[in-house]
Amino acid sequence: MKKTAIYPGSFDPLTNGHLDIIKRGLRLFDKIIVAILHNPAKQALFSIEERMEMLEESLKGYQNVEIDAFQGLLVDYANQKKADAILRGMRAVSDFEYEFQMALMNRRLNREVQTVFLMTGLRWIFTSSSIIKEAARFGGNIDGMVPAIVNQKVREKFNNKS
Ligand code: PNS
Repeated sequence: MKKTAIYPGSFDPLTNGHLDIIKRGLRLFDKIIVAILHNPAKQALFSIEERMEMLEESLKGYQNVEIDAFQGLLVDYANQKKADAILRGMRAVSDFEYEFQMALMNRRLNREVQTVFLMTGLRWIFTSSSIIKEAARFGGNIDGMVPAIVNQKVREKFNNKS
């Protein structure tokens, strides 16, 4: 039986750490659905369409990856997509509490969907979308931390020519 995982997140924007989890997740699952949370209550740097475009560009060539957006509860979306698992990356101890709380709540909401954690690769342990935005906003160099398309789009957003 083919196994599908949902890899949910804000992806505002996608980082090389996210890509690492997707690529390693493909060694465990037959298909990964990268699902961007559409959360109108949260102020994002990139629109859903922009985030989808960056994901599509960065993951072209990966046949077993679907890119989508969702609203509402993740477990309902996972159910609708007939997914077997929710895939999340775990960076450091600081991620643990939030991830643990979310995984337990998701399990309470739907016992059929398992959450699977992959430890983030050591190279990406300090990489996050927010730290990248923070650095880029003030002209900091984010080369090597995000895919080329993301680097370009982030610079355009902040009108940063460096
Ligand atoms: O990249 P992020 O912001 O850490 O991703 C968080 C995300 C999207 C996985 C989480 O906020 C989520 O699943 N939101 C949908 C609502 C939901 O189901 N929340 C968890 C149980 S209440």
